[in-house]
Amino acid sequence: DAASKGGFEHYMLKEIFEQPEALRNTMRGRLLFADGSAKLAGLDANRLELRNLNRIIITACGTSYYAGMVGEYLIEDLAGVPVEVEYASEFRYRNPIIKPGTLVFVISQSGETADTLAALREAQTKGATVLGICNAVGSTIARESNGGVYLHAGPEIGVASTKAFSSQVTVLAMVALLLGRERRVSAEQGIEFAHAIAKIPEQIEEILKLSDKIREIAKKYVNAHNFLYLGRHYNYPVAMEGALKLKEISYIHAEGYPAAEMKHGPIALIDENMPVVVIAPKDSLFDKVLSNVREIKARGGRIIAVTTEDCTELSDYADDVIYVPKVNSMLMPLITCVPLQLLAYHIAVLRGNDVDQPRNLAKSVTVE
Ligand code: G6P
Repeated sequence: DAASKGGFEHYMLKEIFEQPEALRNTMRGRLLFADGSAKLAGLDANRLELRNLNRIIITACGTSYYAGMVGEYLIEDLAGVPVEVEYASEFRYRNPIIKPGTLVFVISQSGETADTLAALREAQTKGATVLGICNAVGSTIARESNGGVYLHAGPEIGVASTKAFSSQVTVLAMVALLLGRERRVSAEQGIEFAHAIAKIPEQIEEILKLSDKIREIAKKYVNAHNFLYLGRHYNYPVAMEGALKLKEISYIHAEGYPAAEMKHGPIALIDENMPVVVIAPKDSLFDKVLSNVREIKARGGRIIAVTTEDCTELSDYADDVIYVPKVNSMLMPLITCVPLQLLAYHIAVLRGNDVDQPRNLAKSVTVE
């Protein structure tokens, strides 16, 4: 058991630390630096559909759904194609509209999630080409989809998904690059983006060095009953995923919110008993998020901020600041997800929970 955990106390921690390697495997041989594009062999048979599509639907459950939300922003930004993201459990039962030119992506780490599989079948029945983004090779979803991309992240044992999330986002970044280069992204922009993707693993290595510091922060919040996670734009899905990680393994109630929506409800909850995790890299929306931070502070809230190394403002307001490397905004989720995984992990361990096998949860939900 200890050997299979590679010296780590839990599979989850091992998998968090495996992310640089997992992402290198996800992108190996797939980034075309000379053309500024991506080569995804599993989509070769679907070239025509990729060229002719005019709308994309991404459907998934749990953490894979949040990766899909990042995918929506990536594909819309780079390729200019409208994308909708939907929970597979909703998609399968609401008679979704599929027209010629609608392409469906299903995302599933296990490739066995019952709702996601049913969504795939529903889309195919309606005539859509369905592409799978799976980790488990030969899984049902991988077999039944019309093409797809494997994560190559290696087996994920911890019930709370970590490296699969970052690998899914990496695949979606490459899909967006591919679609973008066929549409409106120049070779120069593509080359820059491909290099930015390739650099992510070493940047994650830097963040992993913060694990002990994040454990110290976690100690202050072990007895919290509620957490709020805020982020905007590319970091909104990360806020959702960060809150999900905390719920899954620490059993602390947590909500993710787009930061600007705070004033439409969650602000009423803020006091000294409601820690708020704010994901606020120095980007075009930083000043807006900073004003949220000020509002939280004015109401006595405790703030854990995740920001980029070039930020000087947040230390005046936040109780703790976690600094991460600055990358292209479109790839920021690959960076900001990591400290949130570590925060959830350390809080759960400090609470004495079984982080690899949290109560009531299954790694793969194969029943409805
Ligand atoms: C379960 C797992 C989650 C996972 C979700 C979707 O809820 O506990 O970690 O994100 O299923 O799983 P999938 O294998 O389809 O990505």
